[in-house]
Amino acid sequence: MTERTWARRADQLAAQAYAAGQPTAWFDRLYAEAAAGTIDMPWSRTEPHPLLVRRLDEQPPGPAGRACVVGCGLGADAEFLAGRGWTTTGFDLAPTAIDQARARHAGSAVEYRVADLLALPDDLVGAFDLVVEIHTLQAMPNPPRAAAARGVVSLLAPGGTLFVVQFRATGVPAQPPPFPLTRDDLALLEVGGVVPVRVDEVDGPLWRAEFVRRV
Ligand SMILES: C[S@@+](CC[C@H](N)C(=O)[O-])C[C@H]1O[C@@H](n2cnc3c(N)ncnc32)[C@H](O)[C@@H]1O
Repeated sequence: MTERTWARRADQLAAQAYAAGQPTAWFDRLYAEAAAGTIDMPWSRTEPHPLLVRRLDEQPPGPAGRACVVGCGLGADAEFLAGRGWTTTGFDLAPTAIDQARARHAGSAVEYRVADLLALPDDLVGAFDLVVEIHTLQAMPNPPRAAAARGVVSLLAPGGTLFVVQFRATGVPAQPPPFPLTRDDLALLEVGGVVPVRVDEVDGPLWRAEFVRRV
């Protein structure tokens, strides 16, 4: 295979995983094939997401405390938050992604770890003042998206902020993955005392949303 083949391979691996009833099993397979060099590396941006940068530049959501990047992939967003003074954990279901993130960012202050939103370790639950979720919920069907959304929310400490960027559904049919989200899909995050403080439609088409855990 040659450069830029990961998207086609992702479609193949995802279809196999869905057929096997294991809708998140394909992520590590994809990263592993990329690490072996048979396809290019997926989701390999080296810069933080521009909407996250803009959010932090506008007004940080409180003093830099503990931050978590969900489905952190190769670590660009986690590195950005650590650079802004947040004590940052980045986790991903895919062990190969975490290996790649650690290799890319040797000496990083970020704690990179393998963890599954659908079975979070106790020490991550309720631990974070800021949770960043970019393009993970929309990468899975429902189920298990609702359970994964409960996992995202459970990471928040009381008073914590959840910052979310997702592809936005426009009604134009497309072959998943991804699964662009509706406003009702985003509402899966409004559980456990978590309320929306801002939900914006932005070009992409994307959702840029922010939630706070009240209790
Ligand atoms: C579409 S990629 C986005 C990666 C990164 N957030 C970005 O914006 O470039 C989705 C990521 O979520 C991870 N992921 C999928 N299901 C997960 C789960 N249940 N728990 C944790 N991470 C998961 C995948 O391994 C992958 O790295």
